[in-house]
Amino acid sequence: MLVIFAIFCVSFAAAGRSPHADYVEELVRQNAFGARISDNILEDASLDVPELVRKYNYPLEEHFIMTQDGYILGLHRIPHGRDNNNVRCNKPVVFVMHGLLGSSADWVLMGPGTALAYILAEEGFDVWLGNARGNYYSRRHLTLNPDAENDNSFWRFSLDEIGNLDLSASIDYILLATGRSGLHYVGMSQGTTVYFIMNSLRPEYSEKILSMHALAPVAYQTQSRGTLMDALAPIAADALSWATVLGFGEMFPKSELLAWAGQKLCQDEAVFQPICSSIFFLIGGWNMDQHNATMIPVMLAHTPAGAGLRQFAHFAQNVATKGFRRYDYGVLLNLAAYGTAVPPSYNLSKITNPVFLHYSEGDTRVDLADVDRLYNELGGPKEKILVSQKTFSHIDFMWGTNARYYVFDRVIRDIRIIDNSNK
Ligand SMILES: *[C@@H]1O[C@H](CO)[C@@H](O)[C@H](O)[C@H]1NC(C)=O
Ligand SMILES: *[C@@H]1O[C@H](CO)[C@@H](O)[C@H](O)[C@H]1NC(C)=O
Repeated sequence: MLVIFAIFCVSFAAAGRSPHADYVEELVRQNAFGARISDNILEDASLDVPELVRKYNYPLEEHFIMTQDGYILGLHRIPHGRDNNNVRCNKPVVFVMHGLLGSSADWVLMGPGTALAYILAEEGFDVWLGNARGNYYSRRHLTLNPDAENDNSFWRFSLDEIGNLDLSASIDYILLATGRSGLHYVGMSQGTTVYFIMNSLRPEYSEKILSMHALAPVAYQTQSRGTLMDALAPIAADALSWATVLGFGEMFPKSELLAWAGQKLCQDEAVFQPICSSIFFLIGGWNMDQHNATMIPVMLAHTPAGAGLRQFAHFAQNVATKGFRRYDYGVLLNLAAYGTAVPPSYNLSKITNPVFLHYSEGDTRVDLADVDRLYNELGGPKEKILVSQKTFSHIDFMWGTNARYYVFDRVIRDIRIIDNSNK
């Protein structure tokens, strides 16, 4: 069931010229490639997505939808550019989905000119940002309490439910709200995993997704890249599954402490800033060419935004089994859930719409051979696009200072080509 909100396209056009029009015009002008205008880093760290987007004079709509199993998800929409740039009805819709421990904030926190959501809005797209169940903006349920003591019912979900239930509900709602028959999907890392899950379990969604742009795609994780996670995967898969049985549920919620540490220890001039930078190196690869250390306080204030323990367990299971399979509950529960002792594999050949894979040699989380395998198994792969900068890392696909040049501009070009061919 979806909670429906009436949406009137005309209402956006009615907004008058803002008092900051000249300032804004100058900013729009600077929005040429590479321009940066986050004007107050510490303030940006303390705002949530709606506040942050509005601060930079972009329109923001907050929508709440409910999944069929009762999770209440926050969807954020930037319907057009700043100062009424590109206010039109019936524009192509782009739905953007964050990675593990991320949120819609990941697509705006780098600021206008650099963050994907603003770039897409200025380029004339109707931009929707998703939030997976359990993160800061989707930490609600009709009956279950995420903070309940001795009861982790809220947290009993893996990547499977996020793909199968959250994505499908979000996509249906967006299509209904915009009156479009299809949308373009951009996912980052886990945002690609849950897409592959959704579309292989629900092949009928190939019709609704005009094109899919996978940034740092994660399906198979068979090649060890020598990281701690790879080494520990077999143990971690068991330990994490047991932890969820024992009642643990949430991992790394949005944290006041990290926000505080980000501000006190990681801002420019702080002696600890290099250490803060190395934390990013540990979690997602960090590369001097793309890393803007000035932005660390904003990054840490918004990310991690929380996730369910079973998401980690699910990833670890796939690493351990070298497969891409549904969540493994253990033999008895698997029999009940799937009718087989071993969880079924996701059938990628059922994904028949055009899929573009953006990947990089410098990405320590995504191996080139795994990307090849994914590409070969997809039902309608369109193109594999290797980022031309060798050191481009996992995190750079969303936060790289030149992500626009290396990735986003190409995504926009492909969306336009597909959209025009569908007219
Ligand atoms: C890093 O971010 C700050 C604050 O937004 C900005 O002023 C600076 O130009 C950025 N540096 C690069 C290399 O983009
Ligand atoms: C995967 O899907 C394709 C297309 O529907 C089908 O032909 C194939 O048998 C499926 N593979 C498995 C292992 O179920």
